[in-house]
Amino acid sequence: MNRISVSSPSNIALIKYWGMSDARQTLPNNLSLSMTLSQCRSFCTLSRLTTGTADEILWKRTSGPLIAAQNSLRIGIERHLHSLRERFDDWTPLCIATTNNFPTGAGIASSASGFSALAVAFALHCGHSLNSPELSGLARLSGSGSAARSVLGGFVQWPGDAHQLDGPAQQLAPAQHWPLHDLIAIVDATPKSVSSREGHFLAATSPFYSTRLSLLPERLATVRQAIERRDFNALAVAVEREAVELHIIAMTSQPPVFYWQPATLRILERVRQLRDQGLEVCATVDAGPNVHVLCTAQHKTAAFAALSMMPGIERWIFDQAGDGPRRLARHLF
Ligand code: PMV
Repeated sequence: MNRISVSSPSNIALIKYWGMSDARQTLPNNLSLSMTLSQCRSFCTLSRLTTGTADEILWKRTSGPLIAAQNSLRIGIERHLHSLRERFDDWTPLCIATTNNFPTGAGIASSASGFSALAVAFALHCGHSLNSPELSGLARLSGSGSAARSVLGGFVQWPGDAHQLDGPAQQLAPAQHWPLHDLIAIVDATPKSVSSREGHFLAATSPFYSTRLSLLPERLATVRQAIERRDFNALAVAVEREAVELHIIAMTSQPPVFYWQPATLRILERVRQLRDQGLEVCATVDAGPNVHVLCTAQHKTAAFAALSMMPGIERWIFDQAGDGPRRLARHLF
């Protein structure tokens, strides 16, 4: 059996993609910028089926056996596959197995890692390499814009060219440039009730959305410069403002979307106090209640010691800036 297996990382957005200019092509209203993670990953194995005409789609929980994927996952994968097949004109039926090593659908960008893994596996199956500049566009065909960033390591902007919204993501700096840590406080690991896709559609109903879009170019420039200079304090202020603003848009959409839980707010407040006390630490929250606590290697132990005993945290995931997708010799089937 000729199997192709890859793993692809999740990423945490420092400047968030929120709201689409073109839903069919998944084009954003604004440029976004993320840090690719190292530990939180999706795995995908793909092989041609020699019998039958239907795809076989399998899913594995973090621990457990491979089982037939439930409908919602299956539909998302089939939709993405259809677009990939149109793009390559390759219609062979496939067996695809996928899994994540972290909670799915809880605001830790499992769609980014999952769909980028599928795009990369399919591209390799069609003869492309891990360095293909097309990977970002292929990942975006899934409908997940953040997947377009997960095909690259380090600090990534999507789209890379501000004048080309349908252009690929671009790496601004590799992970080694600034190996920041991401301590992820899992406040609630259950899948969120409002998907990011629904959130993107609702964004423009917030009366503050146009203000947000007008503020973003300057904030993006600030974050880019902070990364370039490894200026943690400049990064921290911009990243926290950005996180709060995304949720203001969500909470003032019609109908409103509340991703935060009480513990989310408590952690955000505590992180600010710690920074006031001199620690290089800041926090951001994607479309879910879980908090990404970013810090320098130097202040990681102190930050964790101060936060670990807070109430309302189910568990922690320790991650850091990492490289992009990898081809694997170990397969899921
Ligand atoms: O890529 P999507 O459609 O799952 O949207 C991602 C939305 C955020 O995670 C909140 C922000 C981002 O840029 O990753």
